[in-house]
Amino acid sequence: MPSNKQVLVAGRPSGIPQPEHFEIVDGEMPTIGEGQILVRNQYLSVEPAMRGWLADQSNYSQPIEIGSVMRSLTVGEVIESRTPDFAVGDMLMGWFGWQEFAATDADAVIRKVTDTDLSPSLALGVLGLNGVTALLALEKVGRPVAGDTVVVSTAAGSVGSAVGQIAKLLGCQTVGITGGPEKVAICLDDFGYDAALDYKAPGLEEALAAACPHGANVYFDNTAGAISDAVYRHLALHARIVTCGTASVASWDPVPTGPRVERLIMTKRLTMGGFVIFDHMNEFDAASRRLAQWVREGKLSYREEIIDGIENCPGAIADLYKGQNFGKRLIRLARF
Ligand SMILES: NC(=O)c1ccc[n+]([C@@H]2O[C@H](COP(=O)([O-])OP(=O)(O)OC[C@H]3O[C@@H](n4cnc5c(N)ncnc54)[C@H](OP(=O)(O)O)[C@@H]3O)[C@@H](O)[C@H]2O)c1
Repeated sequence: MPSNKQVLVAGRPSGIPQPEHFEIVDGEMPTIGEGQILVRNQYLSVEPAMRGWLADQSNYSQPIEIGSVMRSLTVGEVIESRTPDFAVGDMLMGWFGWQEFAATDADAVIRKVTDTDLSPSLALGVLGLNGVTALLALEKVGRPVAGDTVVVSTAAGSVGSAVGQIAKLLGCQTVGITGGPEKVAICLDDFGYDAALDYKAPGLEEALAAACPHGANVYFDNTAGAISDAVYRHLALHARIVTCGTASVASWDPVPTGPRVERLIMTKRLTMGGFVIFDHMNEFDAASRRLAQWVREGKLSYREEIIDGIENCPGAIADLYKGQNFGKRLIRLARF
C-alpha cells in the first residue's frame, strides 16, 4: 500500500510557527466515499496567514486542531472521483492540506484550474488567494482613481507586487515599501513601482515625503506597526487605508501600542477598512480570470519561490516572517 506523507500540527505556537510545531508522518492512503474525490497534491501553499490559522486568539477562522493535517490551499489532480462534479484528471485548487493525497468532499474545492496555458502553480499565487486579495481589497476598500498615489507595504511580496501593478494599470503612481536593497530593485525592475523604499534603511519618513509630495491617496497596509505609523503621517485628505495584513506585529497578546490616530482620521477625513478574502469567495473565480488575462497580456508579472519536498513545510512559515522569501512561496511535491 502506498503511504500518504502528511504534515500534522504538533503544538500551538504562541507567536510565529516554528518547525517544532509540526510533525511529518506516513499516513495511510485515504479512500473515498460517495460524493467524494481523491486529490493528489502537486503544489502546497505557504501563507503568512497560517500564523493566524494556528493561533487560538485574534482570529477570523477556527484554530486548526492539534494533531490534524495543516490547513492549506493546494493545487492537485483528481485521481479518483465518486461525484459527477469532478472527473479524473481535473486540476483543482482547494483546501486539501499539507499532505500528498486528500480524500475530500466537493465543498473543499475553491475552483477548477482551467487556465491550462499557464502553470497550475499560479492558481495559488497571482491567480489565487494572493492575487485575488490584491485585486478585490484594492478595488473595494482602496477605491483608487487615476492620478492617485498608492503606497503598498510588503511591496515585493505576493500580494503587494500584484497591488502595485494593478494600481499602475488603473493609472496611479505607485510607491512600494519593502525590506532591503535587493527587494527595492525587484519592486522597481520587475513590478514597475514609481518609487521603492527600504524600511530597514534609515530615513523612511523623508523617503515617503519625497515619494508622496502631495500625500498618499491609498495605503495598502500589509504590515501595520512602525511602517504604517510612518505612512499615516503622509496621507492625503480623504485617503483610504486598506488594512489587509499585520506582518510586523510580533505579539498579539499583549498588542503593541503606537501613536493615537483618531485626530488624524478626523482632520484628514480618512477611511480605514479591514479586508479578509474569505468574505468574498463568491467573486474569487471571476477575479482570478481577470488576473489571468492580465498575466497572458504581459501586464501582470509575478515571482514564485518553489521549494521541492514536503519535508520543507515545517520551517516555511517562519521564513516569511524573516522576509527570506522572494515571491510566492510554494512547496512542490516529489511525485511530480
Ligand atoms: N486579509 C486577507 O484576506 C489576506 C490574504 C492574503 C494575504 N494577506 C496578508 O498580506 C500580507 C502579504 O502576504 P503574502 O502572502 O503576499 O506574503 P509575502 O509578502 O510574499 O511574504 C511576506 C512578507 O512580509 C514581510 N514581512 C515579514 N515580517 C515583517 C516585519 N516584521 N515587518 C515588515 N514586513 C515583514 C516580508 O517582506 P519584506 O522582506 O519586504 O520585509 C515578507 O517577504 C501578509 O500580511 C498576509 O497576512 C491578507
